[in-house]
Amino acid sequence: MKHLVVGASGQVGHLIMAHVQDHGDEVVGTYWSRPGEGLIALDVRDAAAVNQLVQEVDPAVIWVPGAMADVDQCERQPDLSYAVNVQGAVYLMEAAQARGVPLIFFSTDYVFDGRNGPYQEADAPHPLQVYGTHKRKAEVALLQYERTLVIRPAWIYSDDPHPRNFVYRVLRDLRAGRPIKAAVDQYNTPTPAGALARQALRAVEEGVTGVLHLAGPERLSRFALVEKIARRFGYPDAPIEPITIKDLPLPAARPLNGGLITQYPEFRIRESLSDLEVGKLLTAI
Ligand SMILES: NC(=O)c1ccc[n+]([C@@H]2O[C@H](COP(=O)([O-])OP(=O)(O)OC[C@H]3O[C@@H](n4cnc5c(N)ncnc54)[C@H](OP(=O)(O)O)[C@@H]3O)[C@@H](O)[C@H]2O)c1
Repeated sequence: MKHLVVGASGQVGHLIMAHVQDHGDEVVGTYWSRPGEGLIALDVRDAAAVNQLVQEVDPAVIWVPGAMADVDQCERQPDLSYAVNVQGAVYLMEAAQARGVPLIFFSTDYVFDGRNGPYQEADAPHPLQVYGTHKRKAEVALLQYERTLVIRPAWIYSDDPHPRNFVYRVLRDLRAGRPIKAAVDQYNTPTPAGALARQALRAVEEGVTGVLHLAGPERLSRFALVEKIARRFGYPDAPIEPITIKDLPLPAARPLNGGLITQYPEFRIRESLSDLEVGKLLTAI
């Protein structure tokens, strides 16, 4: 079986590639701005390029972790966010629908407003910012196709030295002795990327469609998360300044009392930060 992973240069996409390969399936991955070994260039805003690639690859599954995933950049460039996160996703859905193959779209916990988390799949979305609004628009459009699976993760981390990995970013600051500020009033359910990719692949194998929340088992504040990272990686005395979200000059509003849980116990992720391999990241910084 052949898989197409759109956004395989990203934090989640490259792990999906790895899991699919480990599983013995064939996989083709794309990048947009960061070429990687064996990856093919694709800009999802180009409908003709999307169609041509899908025709050439002829995949049995199309994965879409590819996105403009920087919440503040989406707020500053809403037209670009719409073109990538909504229009591009729709082009891919149309290509999947034309071939009758499953489409796996990665959405976000930011479709919720964070007034009353954690949220289950059936809870009503109410995004606070451009990123969440566009992801929700994409969800609604893509779910028109009956073979779409929308996966919502939250605050993804891994043991990879990937620039978007939050644990790696914190670790670089700790190692450099840079002061770290973290919000005490923003709560979420951090999600290990490896377990996310593994459970997503299982869901695809079992033919799951609709919306699925895949997030880690712990719900904690950004401050508590940074403290945990510091302890886990051997910096128990690092000075971490507790602040509130209002102290940060962020263009996009954040859900505060957020987080995700799933109503499908068989897909619950059990791994937490305590299970993260420390060696790989420590040697990478
Ligand atoms: N990271 C989180 O904490 C988090 C939380 C909740 C949900 N999510 C969602 O989970 C998914 C994966 O996140 P991630 O952390 O892996 O994001 P990421 O590391 O930023 O990866 C995004 C991917 O999309 C590609 N891309 C960007 N613009 C594109 C375009 N115009 N055409 C084609 N590809 C394009 C990027 O390519 P280049 O790198 O080559 O430019 C990259 O491969 C996203 O949908 C995100 O919204 C993430």
